[in-house]
Amino acid sequence: MEEAIITVKNLKKAFRTYRREAGLLESIKSLFVRNFKEVRALKGVDFEIQKGEIVGFIGPNGAGKSTAIKVMSGLLYPDFGKVKCLGFNPWTARERYLQNVGVVFGQKTQLSWDIPPLDTYHFLKDVYEIPDVKFRSRLNYMVKILGIGEIIKTPTRNLSLGERMRCELVAALLHNPDLVFLDEPTVGVDIIAKEVIREFIVKLNQEQGTTFIITTHDMGDIEKLCKHIIIINHGEIVFDSTLQNLKQNYVKTKFIDVKLAEPQKFILGKYEGKVISKTKIDLKIEVRAKYVNNLIYWIMKNCKVADITVTNPPIEKIITQIYRK
Ligand SMILES: Nc1ncnc2c1ncn2[C@@H]1O[C@H](COP(=O)(O)OP(=O)(O)OP(=O)(O)O)[C@@H](O)[C@H]1O
Ligand SMILES: [Mg+2]
Repeated sequence: MEEAIITVKNLKKAFRTYRREAGLLESIKSLFVRNFKEVRALKGVDFEIQKGEIVGFIGPNGAGKSTAIKVMSGLLYPDFGKVKCLGFNPWTARERYLQNVGVVFGQKTQLSWDIPPLDTYHFLKDVYEIPDVKFRSRLNYMVKILGIGEIIKTPTRNLSLGERMRCELVAALLHNPDLVFLDEPTVGVDIIAKEVIREFIVKLNQEQGTTFIITTHDMGDIEKLCKHIIIINHGEIVFDSTLQNLKQNYVKTKFIDVKLAEPQKFILGKYEGKVISKTKIDLKIEVRAKYVNNLIYWIMKNCKVADITVTNPPIEKIITQIYRK
């Protein structure tokens, strides 16, 4: 049965930044008149997340993703709206709420620079009052999946970004939270570490039922991890559904790869299509999604075909189209 772990209703948040032109006269002027600019980071956002989901929370730079994550993790007060996470209002019962929540901001660190991550883990053990036995088994479990047995004994300042990010995950999940926010957990991390991080997320989701909300600009993360995708742009939700739905209903053009049985003259029929590349027997055609079937029928009728396949454009392209709307 589905059970909402997060409910967000009409969430609004604006930032006021004061700006001043350069120069002495301007700075004197600014003593009397304050010029401020208001950025509406969230303009009335609604969504719901179910227990046990891995949700991709995506959007272009400045869309409002981190702002929403900060509100949901109780770091920022909203201006308006209702947020309920794990039955809590994140910014009122903050301490009790955070007992059950993990947060990683890929751009920041939770670890202390001068000491090994393992020492930070011991500190967190006390903060969260994790019993010895639980601490050991939980730590061993995560360290094994992430392959960081030796790494956690090295001072944080000497770790590479990919190593540190894996250590950050342990720090954020040591107290076994039900709900985890990851803001760009794979930014700047190499492909191998990315894979390890993705496997870690999937494993904890499957074995422990942990719910993850992930922001990322890496579409590989989305394809590997997320069934549910929420796209935000200019502070508004522009898509909230499954990855499958995104692929099925938001694809404007598709690609048809044709392998001809023998070199032959190929003329595109009346169906709007564009030959993108062509050799003697291989053709790649881009065509509006709704004409795919007609075009295939036409090709089969008019050419000797050895093989024909239809592919979607890469997910990046589909999402870029949504961003541009
Ligand atoms: N503390 C702040 N003060 C002023 N403006 C802010 C503050 N935090 C965010 N903003 C503005 O709010 C908007 C949304 O920012 P946010 O960090 O939520 O974007 P984002 O979707 O996380 O982008 P990115 O992909 O670059 O991380 C941006 O225009 C940003 O400049
Ligand atoms: Mg951000």
